[in-house]
Amino acid sequence: MPKDYSPFTPGQLVPIDFFVGRVKEVDLLRVQVLDSSVTSRLKVNFLTGERGIGKSSLATFVRYLVEKDSEILGIYASLGGVSSLTGMARKIFDRLLKESAEKPWYGKISDLFGEHIKQVGLFGVTLEFKASREDLQSIVNNFAEAIRQLNSRLGEQKRGIYIILDDINGLATSPDFANWLKSFIDEVGASRTSLPLCLLFVGLDEKRHSLIRLQPSLARVFDIVDIQTWSKEETAEFYKKVFAEVGIEVDDDALAVMSVYAGGLPVLAQEIGDATFKRTTSNRVTLADATAGVVAAADIVGRKHLEPQVFNAIRSKSYRTILKRVGEEPFEFRFRKKEVRKLLSKTEDKAFDNFLQKMKRLGAIVPVPDEGRGVYRFQNRLHYFYFYMEAEKARKSGE
Ligand SMILES: Nc1ncnc2c1ncn2[C@@H]1O[C@H](COP(=O)(O)OP(=O)(O)OP(=O)(O)O)[C@@H](O)[C@H]1O
Ligand SMILES: [Mg+2]
Repeated sequence: MPKDYSPFTPGQLVPIDFFVGRVKEVDLLRVQVLDSSVTSRLKVNFLTGERGIGKSSLATFVRYLVEKDSEILGIYASLGGVSSLTGMARKIFDRLLKESAEKPWYGKISDLFGEHIKQVGLFGVTLEFKASREDLQSIVNNFAEAIRQLNSRLGEQKRGIYIILDDINGLATSPDFANWLKSFIDEVGASRTSLPLCLLFVGLDEKRHSLIRLQPSLARVFDIVDIQTWSKEETAEFYKKVFAEVGIEVDDDALAVMSVYAGGLPVLAQEIGDATFKRTTSNRVTLADATAGVVAAADIVGRKHLEPQVFNAIRSKSYRTILKRVGEEPFEFRFRKKEVRKLLSKTEDKAFDNFLQKMKRLGAIVPVPDEGRGVYRFQNRLHYFYFYMEAEKARKSGE
């Protein structure tokens, strides 16, 4: 009998033991951290890739490796809701405090936090970094010095510092942040003192572009690592490994179906795997389990990962008629308006124009002007998978 808990982790960073693929990217990022520690020089990397491709998972995996093997102190800060420099400083030092509180070196660095440590939560078990705006501003203004102090306190125990700044959405549109980053890098470069710090920014490529628009010199400072989709082999390895963990084997045809629909996107692979696991009743995943899993995953993706407006719009009657027609032909990631039009009646054609406008407005599709007028692509593979499956459903049910 299969276990009753799912070994898949949709919506969470992947556990270290289940991390699959990314050999080249892990190497690239690791070398950057080690370089900065050996040469005591600042390195600035930008890790990019589409939504759900595994950026945060890769960053935390690399952090785990360098902490384990290379005596690096890693700090991971997710800056999702942060839009100011002081907010960034607070988050970085709060993470540092929380993550090092029980580590052997904590005694060496605790006084750096001064009076700003507050015990919060039930029984005061959680520490929080509470500094005034002025103090935070002073950290921002003297960031290199703060990191140097941290590094020298750690002494022999650590050879360098790795700061991962994930989800920099709010900061990417802040001129203050773009200018601060540029002057921070310049000042570190100009000073003769060493700084074994590797900074890793994580975000969609449009966020990097946004920073460059605000401060064009930043174009030269990032070493970019761009994550691509998994290969077929990596996707298959992922499914075999995760199902094997709970004593389940996967039939070849079931493996092929899950892999094709996942399209190499880890977040989709996780949702499809999880939904399939829940439909598997024996210790083998059959083709029927996988097919049912893919269908169920489409609904979950629509509800959980896409904009509610997109999800609701797809349920309107006139749009379903279009989807049904489109589903009669193979449905590609990129499509030409003219080609789809051929499949539609006059009234449908009108609704199709509205449909495109609406989906464009909601960010589900984007024009690809380089490939000519009337060419669109889906914003990402999550949207594509969802539309594809909804088109299939509409066609099959004869709606
Ligand atoms: N190398 C991997 N091996 C196994 N699972 C992975 C891997 N990378 C990512 N995943 C899984 O895929 C999903 C998405 O991963 P993650 O959150 O790291 O992506 P992301 O690119 O940071 O997404 P977002 O753009 O939404 O921030 C998670 O459920 C995670 O567990
Ligand atoms: Mg992420």
